[in-house]
Amino acid sequence: MALQKLPLVGLLLLLTTVVSPARADGPVCPPTTKLSRASFPEGFLFGTATAAYQVEGAVNETCRGPALWDIYCKRYPARCNNDNGDVAVDFFHRYKEDIQLMKSLNTDAFRLSIAWTRIFPHGTKEKGVSRAGVQFYHDVIDELLRNGIIPFVTVFHWDTPQDLEDEYGGFLSERIVKDFREYADFVFQEYGGKVKNWITFNEPWVFAHAGYDVGRKAPGRCSSYVNPQCQDGRSGYEAYLVTHNLLNAHAEAYEAFRQCEKCKGGKVGLAHSPAWFEPHDLADSQDGASIKRAMDFILGWHLEPTMYGDYPQTMKDIVGQRLPTFTTAQKAKLRNSADFVGINYYTSTFSNHIEKPDPSKPRWKQDSLIDWENKNAQDYTIGSKPFTAALPVYSRGFRSLLKYIKDKYGNPEIMIMENGYGEELGATDSIAVGTADHNRKYYLQRHLLAMQEAICIDKVNVTGYFVWSLLDNFEWQDGYKNRFGLYYVDFKNNLTRYEKESGKFYKDFLSQGVRPSAIKKDEL
Ligand SMILES: *[C@@H]1O[C@H](CO)[C@@H](O)[C@H](O)[C@H]1NC(C)=O
Ligand SMILES: *[C@@H]1O[C@H](CO)[C@@H](O)[C@H](O)[C@H]1NC(C)=O
Ligand SMILES: *[C@@H]1O[C@H](CO)[C@@H](O)[C@H](O)[C@H]1NC(C)=O
Repeated sequence: MALQKLPLVGLLLLLTTVVSPARADGPVCPPTTKLSRASFPEGFLFGTATAAYQVEGAVNETCRGPALWDIYCKRYPARCNNDNGDVAVDFFHRYKEDIQLMKSLNTDAFRLSIAWTRIFPHGTKEKGVSRAGVQFYHDVIDELLRNGIIPFVTVFHWDTPQDLEDEYGGFLSERIVKDFREYADFVFQEYGGKVKNWITFNEPWVFAHAGYDVGRKAPGRCSSYVNPQCQDGRSGYEAYLVTHNLLNAHAEAYEAFRQCEKCKGGKVGLAHSPAWFEPHDLADSQDGASIKRAMDFILGWHLEPTMYGDYPQTMKDIVGQRLPTFTTAQKAKLRNSADFVGINYYTSTFSNHIEKPDPSKPRWKQDSLIDWENKNAQDYTIGSKPFTAALPVYSRGFRSLLKYIKDKYGNPEIMIMENGYGEELGATDSIAVGTADHNRKYYLQRHLLAMQEAICIDKVNVTGYFVWSLLDNFEWQDGYKNRFGLYYVDFKNNLTRYEKESGKFYKDFLSQGVRPSAIKKDEL
């Protein structure tokens, strides 16, 4: 290896004295003939992911306070498929059994989120801390570590305490910044000695866009010209405001993390959720050019402030006065406030340049001057879409996205915080049909290969990969009808878990090659 590297090192020294050769060289991939764990660089982590509201249930235990989604699903049952997270898949009581499932898959890591409402049931420390709630996450984390599984913890996965919603509108108010910092600081101090990988916010784009621009997710706000179900809200304004407060909250949390003694050696980032885009009409140069703009709006919006301290210029130019501005002090706190780029990737779409935006009906998508199209100008769908698939399957978009991030943002460390396949089985839903999930297996295979190519051919620095999800769970507006698990959950019979074909595939994939369990905790 060292010998092979020498000519390249020499060349790089000629070209530049700034870039370190080891980094520019890219990840080292072992030669393999078949796709398995062994096809990835040493130390690469594989895991599964979940989120508190989607799996825990036990909403009345540990003095847990009401969360945004508890109230939303009760107020608007149809907007949660008449389901709710009261019981979910009862991870709260079954986490020990579920950790055995993770172990049997040979996974190295597990991504969970902390429910804010279990720590500060009413949103602030002053209103009380639930010691039982704090203890629950200690128990889960300790059980993971005992089983050799590295915890990755999300601080906020959409479950705003309802008390803060009622008091000041949650993320619509800048008051959230101080309260979020207090909460993040509390969990860092509490768990930072044993948890070294943190995600402050999950999918800020979805949280802001679905929650405050199209009203598809809690709190379900938007203008009625966007979605007649919305009873309140203002599209084209609130999503920008919510993002602004969220980013300032992130920067404050990052500062608290850096000041936390026992957190030393840890990493903090966000989990972004960009789609990838292909031009709607290859013959239309405006569609080609729109891809860059689409990426600025869906990814740069939240990523660039944490790198450079400000929004992408494209957004400032188009959104104008509706886009809030950061103060000099806020910019300074935001700059370099993420240690890695977390990415959740699911699907891609076609980008069609908008000819005539309607300024009287502002909304995020229109601001990007793009229509999202399921079919291109030649009437082809992107990738493939099996009958029961929730979203089109396009693994090439995954590789393109990773290469795009590497090239555009200076080769940052990237972790795939979620990737997975949702399936709506409808009337055919049964244990037999649900566990025979070859489409999910195929999806994972294709995306693992696309990621391997991104790492080994395009030299993108990806260091970890989490499948969404370990188990079927509460899928927000789709309730329990959209299944994402490697394990099937029988919602009709005591929430029994059954391994799916995809689970068996992931297990086999991970059994070949060396588990990076030899890596010491303080090296992570
Ligand atoms: C990838 O990122 C990690 C973390 O920043 C760094 O330690 C490593 O050297 C990088 N690898 C490459 C090949 O650039
Ligand atoms: C939780 O408590 C509330 C208020 O007492 C009650 O209405 C609700 O049914 C309880 N939910 C569960 C799942 O026990
Ligand atoms: C339901 O499942 C739980 C967890 O595996 C188990 O402890 C319990 O005995 C089961 N209950 C019934 C009625 O089978």
